[in-house]
Order: sequence, then C-alpha cells, then structure tokens
Amino acid sequence: MALWWWRLFFAALPGILFSTQLCASQKVPNYTFMHNATTAPNISYYDYIVIGGGTAGCPLAATLSQNYSVLLLERGGSPYGNPNITNLAAFGAALSDTSPTSPSQRFISEDGVINSRARVLGGGSCLNAGFYTRASPQYAREAGWDVRAVNESYEWVEKIVAFKPEVKQWQSAVREGLLEIGVVPDNGFTYDHIGGTKVGGTIFDHQGFRHTAADLLQYANPSRITLLLHSTVHRILFRVKDGSKPVAHGVVFRDSLGRKHKAYLKQHAKSEIIVSAGALGSPQLLMLSGVGPAEHLRAHNISITLDQPLVGQGMSDNPMNAIFVPSPEPVEVSLIQVVGITSFGTYVEAASGENFAGGSPRDYGMFSPKIGQLSTVPPKQRTPEALAKAIEQMQSLDQAAFRGGFILEKIMGPISTGHLELRTRDPNDNPSVTFNYFKDPQDLERCVQGLSTVEKVIESKAFAPFRYPNMPLPVLLNMTASSPVNLLPKHTNSSLSLQQFCRDTVMTIWHYHGGCQVGKVVDKDYKVLGVGALRVIDGSTFNYSPGTNPQATVMMLGRYMGVKILSERLGANAADQTEQ
Ligand SMILES: Cc1cc2nc3c(=O)[nH]c(=O)nc-3n(C[C@H](O)[C@H](O)[C@H](O)COP(=O)(O)OP(=O)(O)OC[C@H]3O[C@@H](n4cnc5c(N)ncnc54)[C@H](O)[C@@H]3O)c2cc1C
Ligand SMILES: *[C@@H]1O[C@H](CO)[C@@H](O)[C@H](O)[C@H]1NC(C)=O
Ligand SMILES: *[C@@H]1O[C@H](CO)[C@@H](O)[C@H](O)[C@H]1NC(C)=O
Ligand SMILES: *[C@@H]1O[C@H](CO)[C@@H](O)[C@H](O)[C@H]1NC(C)=O
Ligand SMILES: *[C@@H]1O[C@H](CO)[C@@H](O)[C@H](O)[C@H]1NC(C)=O
Ligand SMILES: *[C@@H]1O[C@H](CO)[C@@H](O)[C@H](O)[C@H]1NC(C)=O
Ligand SMILES: *[C@@H]1O[C@H](CO)[C@@H](O)[C@H](O)[C@H]1NC(C)=O
Ligand SMILES: *[C@@H]1O[C@H](CO)[C@@H](O)[C@H](O)[C@H]1NC(C)=O
Ligand SMILES: *[C@@H]1O[C@H](CO)[C@@H](O)[C@H](O)[C@H]1NC(C)=O
Ligand SMILES: *[C@@H]1O[C@H](CO)[C@@H](O)[C@H](O)[C@H]1NC(C)=O
Repeated sequence: MALWWWRLFFAALPGILFSTQLCASQKVPNYTFMHNATTAPNISYYDYIVIGGGTAGCPLAATLSQNYSVLLLERGGSPYGNPNITNLAAFGAALSDTSPTSPSQRFISEDGVINSRARVLGGGSCLNAGFYTRASPQYAREAGWDVRAVNESYEWVEKIVAFKPEVKQWQSAVREGLLEIGVVPDNGFTYDHIGGTKVGGTIFDHQGFRHTAADLLQYANPSRITLLLHSTVHRILFRVKDGSKPVAHGVVFRDSLGRKHKAYLKQHAKSEIIVSAGALGSPQLLMLSGVGPAEHLRAHNISITLDQPLVGQGMSDNPMNAIFVPSPEPVEVSLIQVVGITSFGTYVEAASGENFAGGSPRDYGMFSPKIGQLSTVPPKQRTPEALAKAIEQMQSLDQAAFRGGFILEKIMGPISTGHLELRTRDPNDNPSVTFNYFKDPQDLERCVQGLSTVEKVIESKAFAPFRYPNMPLPVLLNMTASSPVNLLPKHTNSSLSLQQFCRDTVMTIWHYHGGCQVGKVVDKDYKVLGVGALRVIDGSTFNYSPGTNPQATVMMLGRYMGVKILSERLGANAADQTEQ
C-alpha cells in the first residue's frame, strides 16, 4: 500500500492556508515568524531543522510546520520589498550585483562558464526567468514518486505562484515558427511536459510582479515555525556512539555579526535535519560536516564523520546556446514563455525586448555580460577583463542593436557529469565545481540538432516579420559575431562548425544540479546513506534536470516530501495511540 501515507494526510489535513498574513494590496506577506538571526538564542531546540530557505526549503518547512516545530535557516535576506527581485523588468539586476550582500553569489565553474547561485529567502526562484513547467509523468515514475501525490503537490504550489502568461507578438512568432518547422503538436497553454510546442506558466503575475517559493511560507503555521534570515550554517553536528552509525542532532550557524548559535533536535527518534542548500550548498555543507571523500576532507583538516566518496559527484549543468536575431520591428519585453519540446532531447525557448527585461535599456537581460553571460569568447577566455570590455562595448552600441530577441536551445539531461570540491572550510566561499559540458558526444549532438532547429525557426515564414529580409543565416551569424554583444566568437576559420559553435558559445541556463544524487548519496526517501536523522531535499538530488526547466519540480518536491515525512510520523503516532 504505497499510497497509505498520502490518503492519511489528506484525510487529516485539508489544504490549510494561514492566509491572514498576506497583505494583498502590497503583495508583501507580514511573516511574524521571520527574524534576523542576531536575535536568536545561543541554543534552541526543534523537531525539524531545515537548512536553506530556497526553492525546495520553503515549501518543505511550511508543510512540516503544520504539525511540528520547525527552524528554517537561510543565509540570505528577505526578497520582499526589493524591486531587483520582485519586478520582471528588473531581471538581471540582482544577478549583476556582485556585492557580498547581493541576493546572488556569482561563481565560475572550472569549465570557465560564469554562473550564479542564490543567497536569499526563496532561493533561485527570486533570481530566475520565471518559466514554470512540470516534469513528465515518466520522470516522476523513474524517480519513484507517487504520480498522484506529485500532481497534488504541484497544484498546492501553483495555487500561490504560477500564472498564465500574456503571449505577445514576438513570442507568438517563435511559437508559430516552431509549429511550422514540425515541432508539433500544438499543445496550447499547459504546465504539462508533452512533446510539441506549448506556452508554459510563469511565476510573474500580469503586473510583472514575481511570486517566489518564499510566498509558499503563507502555508506555514506561524506558531510552529521560526525563520532566521542571515543565518549561515557552518556545520551539522553528529552524535557518534561506538559501533553504530553517526546520527545528526544539531547545527552550528553564525549570524550577520559573526556570532555563533547552536540549534538541536528535540529528543525524538523521528526528529530530523534536512539540508536544502541547493546543488552547490548541499554537497558543500555535507563535506564541511565530515560527510564526503575522506582523503579530500583530510586535506582540509576536516574530521571525518563518514567516508562517502560520492558526495559532490554527478554535478551537471545543462548547456545553453543561443542566437540573437536583430529585428526591424519593435518587439515586446519577454522572458521565457514558449517552449518547443523536440523528439531528440532538445528544448527551444526564447526571450525578447529592447532590453530583454534587463534593468536598464541597452542591455540583454538573460544574455547580458553584466550578469556574466559572455558568449563572444570561448569559456576559458571569459576573464574579468573580457567581461569588463564586453560591458563597456555594450554601452556604446546604438539602441537599435538591442532590438530583437534571443532564441536558445537547452539540451535535456545532460549526460555529461562533473564534480564539486571544497576550496576552503568557509561555507561563504564557493566550492570549486566542474560540469564538463559536452564531454559526452550525445550532449554535443543534441546541441547541434538544437541549433539547427533554432536556425529553422529563424528562417520560418511565421518569424519573418522579426528578422531583416535578405539576410541569410551565415551573414546573420557573422553580423552578430562582429558585435560585442553576441554570440559567435570571432574565428579566423570561417568554416566554423556547429559543434565548435556549441563549445565556444556555451552559456548556463542555471539549471545545474547533482552532488547528492538519489541512489548515491541519499536513498529514495532522500535520507543520507550511512548516517541517521539527516536528509537532503533539493536540486542536488537530481540525476537529470526535470521537465524543460526545473523550478516547478523543485518546489513540488519540497511539498511532496514534507507531506510524506509528516504522514509517516503522524501515521506512526496514530498507530502508537491505538496500541495503547
Ligand atoms: C538566473 C536563473 C534563471 C533561471 N531560470 C529558470 C526558469 O526560468 N525556470 C525554471 O524552472 N528554473 C530556472 N532556474 C533554475 C531554478 O531557479 C533552480 O533550479 C532552483 O531554484 C534550485 O532550487 P534549490 O532549492 O535546489 O536551490 P536554491 O533555490 O538555490 O536554494 C538553496 C538555498 O540555500 C541557502 N543556503 C545555501 N547554503 C547555506 C548555508 N550554509 N546556510 C544557510 N543557507 C544556505 C541559499 O541561500 C539558498 O536560498 C533559474 C535559475 C537562475 C539562477
Ligand atoms: C505584522 O504583524 C504584526 C503581528 O501581528 C503586527 O503587530 C504588525 O502591525 C503587522 N505589520 C504590518 C505592516 O501589517
Ligand atoms: C541584524 O541585526 C544586527 C544587530 O541588530 C544588525 O547589525 C544587522 O544589520 C541586522 N541585519 C539585517 C540584514 O537586518
Ligand atoms: C551566548 O553566547 C555569547 C558568546 O557567543 C555569550 O557572550 C553569552 O553570554 C551567551 N548567552 C547566554 C544566555 O548564554
Ligand atoms: C496536524 O495539524 C493540523 C493543522 O494544524 C491539525 O488539524 C491536525 O489535527 C494535526 N494532526 C495531529 C495528529 O497532530
Ligand atoms: C539593485 O541592483 C543594483 C544593480 O545591480 C544595485 O546597485 C542595487 O544596490 C540593488 N538594490 C537592492 C535593493 O538590492
Ligand atoms: C497527473 O497529472 C498529469 C498531467 O496533468 C496527468 O496526465 C496524469 O493523468 C495525472 N495522474 C494522476 C495519477 O492523477
Ligand atoms: C591542516 O593542518 C596542518 C597542521 O596543523 C597545517 O599545516 C595545514 O596548513 C592545514 N591545512 C589546511 C588546509 O587548513
Ligand atoms: C563577416 O563580417 C566581416 C566584417 O565584420 C566581413 O569582412 C566578412 O566579409 C563577413 N563574412 C561574411 C561571410 O559575411
Ligand atoms: C576550420 O574548421 C573546420 C571545422 O572545425 C576544420 O575541419 C578545419 O580544419 C579548420 N581549418 C583551418 C584552416 O583551421
């Protein structure tokens, strides 16, 4: 009876929404349970401690708090009232802010691709391009999830954060172009993952206001949850008794003044610590807590809790490649709305606008060097100097150079994997991460097929109003290459192959995942193998990125696992009581 826990939960808990906290006119929730970590006691006790108030951590903590005391620790601040986060038109502002208090923390993988990770309540859902789309039922089955419970969890998320976008002329032309070249059928507007072309959801509402995973804390029980902002977890504490496995029982965190606090689990066999610190943060924190490859930990003088060579393995980032198409016509400002789900494992998406939803005009938003996207030079040459030069050149371009849009392709999976290692023992420092883009030939082949599809869309009849006439594709590519904003690196070799184009212009779509994968670091219930009272629930557990874009499934997973954990514990309690 795999489903007993789900039925039990819904019998016991109709979707409770503690909605009194939402001040609708300002869309700013007044969370009475949200505090600066400096106000936290030196020592405190909870049933559950969730590390990371991100895309998975918020729905998870909200759900657990319905019946148990929960401490949610987030290293960043609140997204509320920060226009860099809440406005669609400001996309990229947070990503281009590289100060130590920015909601985003830039990192550069060993591959040379510039990337970003979240440092704010709501996590990546506060920085991202907003596209909202589910994983396929097949993905859910392969993950061992119960498909009905998955659907209910998506709906719980969607009630608060997902919207139908208003599709305007440029996005419509991309959509019609995809259909014209055979990425069919036309699936209209849907959250579902189905082959063909569709309009997906968005976390931006019709006023361009962003709704994030932090909004899911409206579901929390304010009397049972404590949320501490600016609290950076340094270590998970384990109790080790001779002859039995280490059991997590507390955490050490520091507030913004550097003061140390400890939080412990209440004495109960079912109390747990749950790590939701994201694909970089979760494997990093396990290692800092002595769970990881012994030799590597020894090299950093970290005492070993468990030799686990697979922590930090299986890191992947889906490569993104894009072509900029200058337009003779004005186009709307849009982030991703339409996706073509091809039969060969490539997803085609697009963004448009005079400023591509970048804060100021003269910007390329999702593709701007200001946020670290620099495809005019190959990855290893994307130095700070090259980036600065590209930003400067961009400022001097004519406004018309920014009119148009980018059509991008992202490959599914990917198959190529890399690894993560500590650089230092400071949790504020980025670990070193290698993604090995296109190491597997099938990834490269999917990129080539994806770019051919993008080219066909550009050359389609439907898209004709938005490209200059009489401009064959090679000239277009060459033209964009000679501008500092795009995309084709300037090669002396004119017979540049698409394979080389894939490698040289690779960017991130920020869907990196892995490091604590199911079957390697955690079991199917997301319990860390080899230790007790510890789970990891977030994008670090994925073997492949779910759906065309992951955030819907990351939020769903937080809810799904929260329900599962609660139901198992409540079920056990009910059983205890009937036995008495
Ligand atoms: C620019 C950008 C655009 C994107 N576009 C899209 C899109 O359009 N659609 C889509 O579906 N997906 C998109 N994504 C991807 C998606 O947002 C992420 O996959 C998802 O948010 C990851 O969720 P997570 O819970 O695994 O990690 P996160 O959301 O990053 O959560 C981890 C949290 O843990 C905190 N943390 C880390 N370490 C510690 C510590 N030691 N102590 C305390 N707290 C800690 C972090 O501050 C963070 O809040 C995009 C991502 C980015 C960055
Ligand atoms: C937020 O809630 C607290 C406690 O209920 C209340 O005292 C305060 O006035 C509220 N603030 C706003 C801005 O609504
Ligand atoms: C948290 O509180 C401390 C001490 O009152 C203060 O110095 C710090 O600025 C606060 N941090 C934030 C982000 O509000
Ligand atoms: C809390 O810890 C600080 C040192 O970090 C110490 O100065 C203070 O006395 C402690 N407070 C209590 C109540 O123990
Ligand atoms: C769990 O919490 C909900 C809502 O707070 C409540 O209705 C329910 O009775 C609780 N269940 C148990 C077993 O405590
Ligand atoms: C918004 O972003 C800009 C530029 O990235 C930065 O200078 C500014 O401080 C940010 N504002 C806030 C409130 O974070
Ligand atoms: C779950 O949702 C998907 C997509 O909406 C649907 O195809 C499927 O039938 C649903 N499954 C269950 C068990 O409800
Ligand atoms: C580890 O400790 C040794 C001996 O105390 C010291 O020499 C070495 O520098 C330390 N290494 C790191 C990475 O801290
Ligand atoms: C590409 O552009 C350069 C100038 O930027 C020009 O000299 C060259 O002829 C162009 N090549 C093609 C194939 O259009
Ligand atoms: C140009 O590139 C192609 C494809 O990458 C390669 O086969 C060819 O040898 C290159 N020619 C020169 C002169 O480098």
